[in-house]
Amino acid sequence: MEIQINNQQNRIDPAEIWKISRQVLKALRIGEGEVSLLVVGDQAMARYNQRYLGRRGPTNVLAFSMQEGLFSEINPHLWGDVVISTETAGREAREAGISINQRFQFLLIHGLLHLLGYDHEYSESETRRMEAKTEEVMARIETDNKEDTNMQIPRLAVNVDHIATVRQARKINEPDPVIAAGIAELAGAEGIIVHLREDRRHIQDRDLFMLKETVKTKLNLEMAAAEEIIRIALKVRPPMVTLVPEKRQELTTEGGLDVRGHRKALKETVKRLHKGKMAVSLFVDADPEQIRASKEVGADIIELHTGHYAEAKKEKEAQRLFERIVAGAELGARLDLKVSAGHGLNYINIRRFQGLEAIEEYSIGHSIIARAVYVGLDQAVREMVALVEQL
Ligand code: PXP
Repeated sequence: MEIQINNQQNRIDPAEIWKISRQVLKALRIGEGEVSLLVVGDQAMARYNQRYLGRRGPTNVLAFSMQEGLFSEINPHLWGDVVISTETAGREAREAGISINQRFQFLLIHGLLHLLGYDHEYSESETRRMEAKTEEVMARIETDNKEDTNMQIPRLAVNVDHIATVRQARKINEPDPVIAAGIAELAGAEGIIVHLREDRRHIQDRDLFMLKETVKTKLNLEMAAAEEIIRIALKVRPPMVTLVPEKRQELTTEGGLDVRGHRKALKETVKRLHKGKMAVSLFVDADPEQIRASKEVGADIIELHTGHYAEAKKEKEAQRLFERIVAGAELGARLDLKVSAGHGLNYINIRRFQGLEAIEEYSIGHSIIARAVYVGLDQAVREMVALVEQL
């Protein structure tokens, strides 16, 4: 079950809305389908109430089924729309002495149950059935939450390419990415990433060979699916590789891999890398087609490209791109792929990922190395570890 959220209010943190929605959907235990959730204030709610139900004033929740009536034939997977007013929810929460999040959770369950055919307006037995189901879902959320507290905390893997960028500016032997990797690990990084580019602009073959010997956590080799680099990977055999598209002229990786367009070749490459006992991650845009194709070619992991989100200039655009990443992460998890994310993430834009449990690992380089110039690598990594652990 997928949920599309259109959040037009500022009373509940958007990350909390995502978290509650995911918990509720999980606890409802329904399979395929899609619902839309519109979160508004009282003014907008009063407009919907008047327009669609002919009632005056705002209300707490409205549900519009796409399974019944005029629109039922359009798409059997579309369950419908739920509209919630957080202004009314806030008032009701204060009156009941509970938090607005708790009230929001109840209203969302209530709206979704309406979409699933439950009702409370026409008979007592139906009302009892709906109440019982509500209690069941709430109890399940509590159990799921208890289990989730034992869940893995997301990990930070640090990309040390730009330590090598500084070294290559002079083509001497410092600063050394191998030493930087050790410092990052001591500061709490749970993985080290290097991108051995075909033009060797930063990481050199020697760095990779040494890191294979020294990294204590997990070495991830980012690479193009180019024959020369595949052979090096097969020789070094890091525990994991990430295939990325690579263009000579780009400053950094610009887009995700076109897995769909190169299925055959990628399947072959993944197979070769698997033979070398390496887990294979594909760096892809949060595009459902690319994610499904990644599963088809045999990838173990997808790394979702966060660069477009990170570069968005306007908040609305950033939120739209973020929601695409969330949907991509959830699709990846449903397909039984491990999901990581990276590119352009920094100490500020990482915060939006709070509560996104489908992402297991964040791959971050430039912002950490940039901060390290001012505060030192140890502190820069520690600060990012702390942020990632709170997600
Ligand atoms: N993930 C991939 C696939 C990348 O190519 C890069 C950049 O090397 C990163 C993550 C890290 O991006 P940034 O340096 O912007 O944090």
